[in-house]
Amino acid sequence: MKFFVDTADIDAIRELNDLNMLDGVTTNPSLILKSGRDILETTKAICDVVEGPVSAEVVAIDFDQMLKEGKHLATIAPNVCVKVPLTWEGLRVCKILSDEGTKVNVTLCFSANQALLAAKAGASFISPFIGRLDDMNIDGMELIQDIRTIYDNYDIKTEILAASIRTANHMKEAALIGADVATAPPKVIHDMIKHPLTQSGLDQFVKDAGEAGIKIA
Ligand code: E4P
Repeated sequence: MKFFVDTADIDAIRELNDLNMLDGVTTNPSLILKSGRDILETTKAICDVVEGPVSAEVVAIDFDQMLKEGKHLATIAPNVCVKVPLTWEGLRVCKILSDEGTKVNVTLCFSANQALLAAKAGASFISPFIGRLDDMNIDGMELIQDIRTIYDNYDIKTEILAASIRTANHMKEAALIGADVATAPPKVIHDMIKHPLTQSGLDQFVKDAGEAGIKIA
C-alpha cells in the first residue's frame, strides 16, 4: 500500500520523505487554512520536495471556475494531482483534465456508487472518507471493501485512496483490504511504529547492556 501524508506542513512532509515513507501528499482547503500559507506557494513547495502525486484541491463549485482552477493548479508542477469534489461538476472537470493527461483525485466519496461514477469519469484516485463515516457510526472500512470488490470485478484502474484516516489501526485495516493508497496525518504514520512490548523490550536490553558493560564502537 502506498503512503500519502495528509498535511500542508512542509517540515512534516520533508521528515517523512527523507525516510522514504512517502509516495505522495494530499492537501485540502482546511489543511491550507491550518498552514496559514498560500495554496499555490505551498503546493509548489511540496512538489519541490516530493516526487509522487501531490493533491491540490479546487475551491470553486461551479463547472467553469472549477475547470479554470484545476487547469491552473496543474501548471504548478508535473506531479500536481487536481482534487475535485464528488459532484457532477467535479466529474465533468475530472473527465476533461484526465483526458488531457492530468491526474485527478475525486474527493468526498461516501458511497460505492459515487466511486463507480468517479472511475467512469477517468479519476486517477478516488478518496473514500473513512473517519467521517465512522464518526456517524457507519463502518468506513466497509466502504473501502465494497469499492475494492467492485473495482476488482471490472478491473478498474482508478486507485483507491483511503482518506480521513484517524488511527494507525485504520492504516492496517486499509492495507488488509487492499486499498491502493492511504493518506494519513503525520501523527498517524508516526503512531504506526508504537508497540508497548517494543518499548519494554528495549528498556530491558538497554539495562542489561549497561550491566554487562557492552561496548561496540
Ligand atoms: C484527504 O484527501 C482528505 O481531505 C482528508 O483525509 C480528510 O480528513 P478529515 O476527515 O480528517 O478532515
